[in-house]
Amino acid sequence: MQTNRIAIALMTLAALSLPAGAAHAQNARADLIAKSGSKVKGTVLFEDVKGGVRVRVKATGLPAGMHGFHIHEKGDCSSGDGISAGGHYNPGNTRHAGPDSPTGKRHAGDLGNLAADGSGNASLNRVFKGVSILGGKNPIAGRGVIIHAGEDDLKSQPTGNAGGRLTCGVIGVTTD
Ligand code: CU
Ligand code: ZN
Repeated sequence: MQTNRIAIALMTLAALSLPAGAAHAQNARADLIAKSGSKVKGTVLFEDVKGGVRVRVKATGLPAGMHGFHIHEKGDCSSGDGISAGGHYNPGNTRHAGPDSPTGKRHAGDLGNLAADGSGNASLNRVFKGVSILGGKNPIAGRGVIIHAGEDDLKSQPTGNAGGRLTCGVIGVTTD
């Protein structure tokens, strides 16, 4: 019957227009805001992938060298020093470590370090396990991302001794 065929076609269209696997096909983005008197700018893109989140960073204006890079608890970049973003995102109430922690234990927000070259540029493209964008394990949407002045030693508690906060961004879900 013609009517049924139209109904089926409409249902198929409706199914196609839903995000595939709803909770696991989301992207997010954080635009970095300079803090603590720095000139750091950049963007962090997040993509939900199997078992984690792919993170792509492009940042400029950094001192050459290694810089601690974390997801912090609060999506609040209002303070001039970035402290408003709170501590490391740590829903599992575990110890600070790095993303390649041999025990697998780390703060969910422990993303390790970014390496800035002699021109002050840093980029990164890697998958971090144990987090999701929204609706999965340890969701990061609405939280903050911070790049620090110093290197995260991946062991000092509770912050990796990474120093001040050079830039802060709020992680917001995007529709693209
Ligand atoms: Cu941090
Ligand atoms: Zn940490």
